[in-house]
Amino acid sequence: MEYLSAFEGNSYYGIVAACFVVLVTLVSTVYMGKMKTKRRGIEDQVGGEPGYAMRNARKSELLEVPSEGATTMAALFEQSCKKHSQLQCLGTRKVISKEFIEDGKGRKFEKLHLGEYQWETYGEIYDRVCSFASGLVKLGHDVNTRAAIFSDSRPEWLISLQGCFRQNLTVVTIYASLGEEALIHSLNETQVSTLICDYKLLKKLSAVYSRLQTVKNIIYFDDGEAAVDSNLSNDMSNWVITPFSEVEKLGKNSPVSSQLPVKTDIAVIMYTSGSTGLPKGVMMAHKNLVASAAAVLTVIPNIGSSDVYLAYLPLAHVLELVAETVMICAGMRIGYGSTLTLTDSSNKIKKGTKGDASVLKPTLMATVPAILDRVRDGVLKKVADTGGLAEKLFNFAYGRRYTAMEGSWFGAWGIEALLWDLVIFNKVKSILGGDIRAMLCGGAPLSGDTQRFVNICVGAPVVQAYGLTETCAGGAFSDFSDTSVGRVGPPLPCCYLKLVSWKEGGYLTTDKPMPRGEIVVGGSCVTNGYFNNKYKTDEVYKVDENGMRWFYTGDIGRFHPDGCLEIVDRKKDIVKLQHGEYISLGKIEAALMASNYVVNVMVYADPLQTSCVALVVPSRQVLEKWAQQAGIEFKDFSELCDKNEAVAEVQQSLAKEAKAANLDKFELPAKIKLLPDPWTPESGLVTAALKLKREAVKAKFKDELEKLYK
Ligand SMILES: *[C@@H]1O[C@H](CO)[C@@H](O)[C@H](O)[C@H]1NC(C)=O
Ligand SMILES: *[C@@H]1O[C@H](CO)[C@@H](O)[C@H](O)[C@H]1NC(C)=O
Repeated sequence: MEYLSAFEGNSYYGIVAACFVVLVTLVSTVYMGKMKTKRRGIEDQVGGEPGYAMRNARKSELLEVPSEGATTMAALFEQSCKKHSQLQCLGTRKVISKEFIEDGKGRKFEKLHLGEYQWETYGEIYDRVCSFASGLVKLGHDVNTRAAIFSDSRPEWLISLQGCFRQNLTVVTIYASLGEEALIHSLNETQVSTLICDYKLLKKLSAVYSRLQTVKNIIYFDDGEAAVDSNLSNDMSNWVITPFSEVEKLGKNSPVSSQLPVKTDIAVIMYTSGSTGLPKGVMMAHKNLVASAAAVLTVIPNIGSSDVYLAYLPLAHVLELVAETVMICAGMRIGYGSTLTLTDSSNKIKKGTKGDASVLKPTLMATVPAILDRVRDGVLKKVADTGGLAEKLFNFAYGRRYTAMEGSWFGAWGIEALLWDLVIFNKVKSILGGDIRAMLCGGAPLSGDTQRFVNICVGAPVVQAYGLTETCAGGAFSDFSDTSVGRVGPPLPCCYLKLVSWKEGGYLTTDKPMPRGEIVVGGSCVTNGYFNNKYKTDEVYKVDENGMRWFYTGDIGRFHPDGCLEIVDRKKDIVKLQHGEYISLGKIEAALMASNYVVNVMVYADPLQTSCVALVVPSRQVLEKWAQQAGIEFKDFSELCDKNEAVAEVQQSLAKEAKAANLDKFELPAKIKLLPDPWTPESGLVTAALKLKREAVKAKFKDELEKLYK
């Protein structure tokens, strides 16, 4: 995403402002006071394996439902729709015009001009859900089989999901960016008979038609597109292919009574791209999803129907599914967008027209670390390119607010803050519409630097959360009032978090100054396990003597004295070298990422060796700039990556970062290999949330890794 345009035109300084700055700076320095540490989590006694357990400080009993009677996703939805029937619910933007522009190298880019948001009320959406539910049965879907949704996020995604729930169908969800094999595997394993998908994915399906043996019906989202190509439908002649609007019409004209589920019924089988091999399907019961939603609802202060949520992450990701469920409970507006159309300067937005955020003006957004990292880099680059007084002023303002935030909220949000907003930060804030009051971040660890940076620039808390698909996103969630960074907050009020000692790895609950250990999550949000994989389920799920389910996350954490969790490591990422030193791959990677040269890095350690090595995807821009300055000639980037000088240059930069992060000598990669091609979800080397898929990278670059150890 391009967040750069905010700094175009630096009309925000002047002598008057400067004088005012000095005055207000002085005044607010005097007022800066420390807030007393508040306990956010409380230690508690629980069953199961001994450990150090914590619960949310505000609730002594674990939450299970968002409101009385909302024990299933279907009931929760119906309640909210009835309560908020006249309010706007889901919105999308109509395409006003579409054009293709060429970049001169023969590549074509689609540019969109999108209109205002068009809204449907809660009442209208509920009616559509009921129609779809009836239509599905009328269409001949066998209610003893499953349905799957394979699409980007959009209103029809939620409508299909809730429609299926009203007939007690289990919905299989699959990332739209998942590879072919994974798709075939998930649909076949769960015996899906009805597949609900985007029009544009039909082609992809026809290519694997003969291998999708259980599928009988296809329902596609018809955005006024032409009917399905007759060649395409001939190719898939055994399937009944129906437009979504037809199914709704069918159900509207002949309603069928609903078959509502109970709380222990399985709502969703969510396929997550595992870091190894084929994806695993996590079985989520209705009660798991509603428990997580109930908990999140209580930790977002003043959430209500005046809030607006910008939905652009995949709904096939548990973070987004739970977030949208929470927003529905609160009766607010959900506007759909996409990463490619998010801001005015996003790739697919036609120059001079508006991105999703500036039209919607959201108050809440969910995001993942990779996106925030890009925001930060974009803003910093723009500031540096502008240079001069604007850069100095930005850095000064940033420094002031940084100090203020390390002190207290008063300093951060007092009079001085208003001033800085006026002269500097509103520019950045306006990229996201200007009304953001919080950004929720989950999916992977976010660096403290980035968290603070975005926090300061957007002028709203960046709330870190921790949860997994297996715990239905339940886990930890930072308090809005917590100004620290690098932690994921206290337990959500739907679960306990317990640390269990891992002696082998050297993490103990008796560690000083803070207890450490493997993070184990217990409570109603803990899911039923992996579909068709009892072996794997039994390995990581346990039920205690009180009947509570616990999930062993494999993540290592520690509890701060105020009850907040910090993720410090991953069990899988710790390797014991030949001389007995433990090294943490993730920790080293996080340290090396700080180098300007690094876009992506994977550290690898062979337990039979005494050192580690690394594969580095360098920043093309930064490395080429260095090469030009250093007078190094190269034909193309790939050749540059192979040059010894380039490798040496990157390596000395890594050494510097390793030193800054206090890494031990054996933690610095002894040798590195520069790889010219970026790692993308499409290449299968990182997940859709841009997390490194270690096994896949290892397999792809097996030869390179071997050479590094020669
Ligand atoms: C589908 O699953 C069945 C077992 O349920 C298996 O025998 C078959 O090989 C699978 N087909 C594909 C295409 O994976
Ligand atoms: C919902 O469907 C599941 C699986 O088909 C079934 O076991 C369960 O009894 C159903 N629930 C109700 C309330 O009928």
